[in-house]
Amino acid sequence: MGMNGRRKLHVKSFGCQMNVYDSHRMADTLAAEGFDEADTPDGADLVILNTCHIREKAAEKVYSELGRLRRLKEEAARDGRKVMIAVAGCVAQAEGEEIMRRAPAVDLVVGPQSYHRLPDMVRRAADRRVVDTEFPVEDKFDALAAPSRDAIRMRGVSAFVTVQEGCDKFCTFCVVPYTRGAEFSRPVDKIVTEVARLAAAGVREVTLIGQNVNAYHGGGPDGRPWTLGRLLHRVAEIEGIARLRYTTSHPRDMDDSLLAAHRDLPALMPYLHLPLQSGSDRILDAMNRRHTCAEYLEIVERMRAARPDLALSSDFIVGFPGETEDDFRATMDVVAGVGFAGAFSFKYSPRPGTPAAAMEQVPEDTKAERLQRLQRTIDRHQAAFNAGCLGKTLDVLFEKPGKRPGQLVGRSPYLQPVQVMAPASLIGEVVPVVITEIGSNSLFGSLPHSTADMRAPMPALASAGA
Ligand code: 5AD
Ligand code: SF4
Repeated sequence: MGMNGRRKLHVKSFGCQMNVYDSHRMADTLAAEGFDEADTPDGADLVILNTCHIREKAAEKVYSELGRLRRLKEEAARDGRKVMIAVAGCVAQAEGEEIMRRAPAVDLVVGPQSYHRLPDMVRRAADRRVVDTEFPVEDKFDALAAPSRDAIRMRGVSAFVTVQEGCDKFCTFCVVPYTRGAEFSRPVDKIVTEVARLAAAGVREVTLIGQNVNAYHGGGPDGRPWTLGRLLHRVAEIEGIARLRYTTSHPRDMDDSLLAAHRDLPALMPYLHLPLQSGSDRILDAMNRRHTCAEYLEIVERMRAARPDLALSSDFIVGFPGETEDDFRATMDVVAGVGFAGAFSFKYSPRPGTPAAAMEQVPEDTKAERLQRLQRTIDRHQAAFNAGCLGKTLDVLFEKPGKRPGQLVGRSPYLQPVQVMAPASLIGEVVPVVITEIGSNSLFGSLPHSTADMRAPMPALASAGA
């Protein structure tokens, strides 16, 4: 415990953006209990691992991290200091008591639907180990504290806001419906209040997130369920919000309201992450994706018609049970056909309790070989997309100091990091940048001559993001 009676908290996030958001909200809630957030676990009184269960590799990381933390805890104990270790997130939900058995250093296990109970759990865990992996009836979002202005500013000009959680799709490979539970949408007014608060503290870009975000159907102020497209229109009206994004979407839920949002909202960035998983209809069916490859391509075409500068990214799984060389080639063909600006690809990883885990598995070396081939193709297309940006002028939202002195780094509409020599006063501003060079991890650009002198710093942001 610090001299002022405040305690130190370190939260380490694994996995997706939902976890990043949840980590922030846990820190916000514990701030009210006297915890200050720190960047490292050294000297922390409470360490929370916010875990991911989506693939085996992700889940295993937790146990190796817990090994390190056990040593940290033992060292602290020798100095007469108690370090509390908490496991949160989807591994906590899936394994609960099992974590307590495998990792005796863990004091507290908390599932994603119980984060609002953390303050009470931390108090109880001082005496004995505590597990809470229930799906309580109360709304955790109502009970979680909002971030302070300082916390928002420390986190930068781009923020995530969870609008939807859980999933009812039950793809046969996926643990999400089990770890995050049934699909749930937050009401429109709660989301609007949260975004307005972020904007008032200097946030310029908001990404609305959810495991199946475009299934959003939260209650609107008119008492009716609103679509994601309608929600985006409303959020775009909030003063200070220059950019909007949303992720992750399911092809089945790409409705006309989203099409309209892409057509009508300049703030909605022309970049769509739309997982396809496989290019083979046979495999899509076995995955229970409930759409064909042709239907996916049709959606892409319609979205591109609504927003001609739209770029796409996707997720793919190779070596799903039963995947033949022909099935895999179909995936390779789609990747080449669509020309994705980027994509994530994974070897199929059997997850306990999911239907596909019980199916006949593809050998590990076949999976590895296919993954390599797919990643090479994806990389080639990504490089081609980036190369196509050379000489173009792209709007960049500057986020923080860049790699070199005098540089800032920001993001293009397509989420590419862009390094530019620019004054720190431009952090939080969207500025047109001429792309002059294509690097392997980022683009390089320069400001049009007038920009640096013309733009006055935004008062709310002059010191943010550094
Ligand atoms: N094995 C491999 N990849 C998976 N994903 C989800 N579950 C699995 C699994 N069991 C991938 C999907 C999803 C992304 C978030 O993770 O591609 O879109
Ligand atoms: Fe998992 Fe996404 Fe399928 Fe839901 S839609 S089961 S989150 S892969």
